[in-house]
Amino acid sequence: MEQENTERENILVVDDDEGLLHLLKMRLSAMGFSVTSCTTGQEAVGEAKKTMFNLAITDLRLRGEDGLDVTEELMRSHPGLPVIILTAHGSIPNAVEAMQRGAFGYLTKPFDDKEFKATIEKALSQQRMSREIDRLKSLVKELYGLENVVARSPAMQRLFQQIGQVADSDATILLFGETGTGKEVMARVIHTNSRRSKGPFVALNCAAIPETLFESELFGHVKGAFTSAHGAKRGLFQMANGGTLFLDEIGEMPLSMQVKLLRAVQEREIREVGSETSMKVDVRIIAATNRDLSEAVKNGTFRNDLYYRISVVPLFIPPLRDRRDDVPLLAQHFLKLSMKRSNKEIKGFTPAALHRLMMNPWPGNVRELENVVEKAVVMSQQDTLTPDLFPTVSVVTESPLKPLTEAKEEFERTYLKSVLQLTGGNISRAAQFAGRYRADFYKMLRKYGLHPSTTKGKLDPEVDELENEEHLTEAER
Ligand SMILES: Nc1ncnc2c1ncn2[C@@H]1O[C@H](COP(=O)(O)OP(=O)(O)OP(=O)(O)O)[C@@H](O)[C@H]1O
Ligand SMILES: [Mg+2]
Repeated sequence: MEQENTERENILVVDDDEGLLHLLKMRLSAMGFSVTSCTTGQEAVGEAKKTMFNLAITDLRLRGEDGLDVTEELMRSHPGLPVIILTAHGSIPNAVEAMQRGAFGYLTKPFDDKEFKATIEKALSQQRMSREIDRLKSLVKELYGLENVVARSPAMQRLFQQIGQVADSDATILLFGETGTGKEVMARVIHTNSRRSKGPFVALNCAAIPETLFESELFGHVKGAFTSAHGAKRGLFQMANGGTLFLDEIGEMPLSMQVKLLRAVQEREIREVGSETSMKVDVRIIAATNRDLSEAVKNGTFRNDLYYRISVVPLFIPPLRDRRDDVPLLAQHFLKLSMKRSNKEIKGFTPAALHRLMMNPWPGNVRELENVVEKAVVMSQQDTLTPDLFPTVSVVTESPLKPLTEAKEEFERTYLKSVLQLTGGNISRAAQFAGRYRADFYKMLRKYGLHPSTTKGKLDPEVDELENEEHLTEAER
């Protein structure tokens, strides 16, 4: 586990022996920790209310106080805080009691340096680990809590409306959409918003599982069902009992497996490999595919009966290019997540960078956008993300659609050039042709920095550009 070097870990030390307390403080500071020392338990509990500690070390016998009570008090106010007990020789039973009450470990005085360091390191690494787990948990929660699923576009709003209508029923759902559109995210959203949300969400990638293992993975097996079945094993259907089973990439499943799955889906009943009896399971099924399954049915690669079973409620997740309004929000969302992961502080995207992202066709959809933003965050040397950080994203001029003003200006410029060429640079005729007054026509030429005289007799479509107005003679003005 990575240690954050930017902040020093805080250690709280409690001992009524001031000499020893001083010694401990010196040792721990030398090890690079930030140390707060207290001579009484009460003082320590007070400190713990002000500061987040990573570790507490306390003597078991404090003047007038019970070190065990102090330990418990500290752990109550800081759940997950490891506490190391210091004991004198002969008080091992007390130390054992402290461990039973949840202390991390103990050190018997006098302790040697090596043992001291090892115990502290162990306690801290456990604490780092549990902090990391908490962080990941909150990340996962954030990721699948509705508030962190971006869906502003009308297309996604419609999808969410549909999800809202079916989430709470037990109806089987088929999610279809291109790769990276968020099928798994939506499956989790449905689960989280169903009455099964407290039950498990079990995902199976049907494309990634070898045919020979398919049945035992899905339905489990009894001990000795086949040569390598040394023990019994629960299948995914059992694991998902009371919750949701997500069958991802169901279109990739071989026909022979489809028959077996059909039975389970139809009857909500499974039979473990090697077992004589079948058992009921209470599982909601959500399947996902990026293939057109009705086409697969026609081709004979997907069973018709299974298709009808799983497509009770078909939900389509639109590709990202059809919901460009989601791009800026998704980009911000992924920026936030990437910043957390990389410990980098970035303010946001420049308008040009966002524009470039919005215009990209995104064949890899949301996942591709996520990767592109993550990479940009890693590569970035400034506190904003600029267009050059998105080199793989197609350049704006290549995209079929441009902002209206830009498209209009480009058209006008080309038009003016053509008219000038047509009239050999004769302003009166050109203005007449364009249906404008001469003065207006000049204004337009100036706007685009075009010079009328240079086009005379030229057939080359490139018209020389005007540096500044002085090139126009008074008469031409
Ligand atoms: N609406 C959304 N809001 C926030 N994040 C999203 C959204 N949609 C997708 N993502 C993110 O994009 C990535 C791809 O999503 P997901 O894995 O659900 O797509 P998929 O359709 O299952 O892709 P594949 O077909 O490749 O399996 C994930 O990291 C997911 O968190
Ligand atoms: Mg997926």
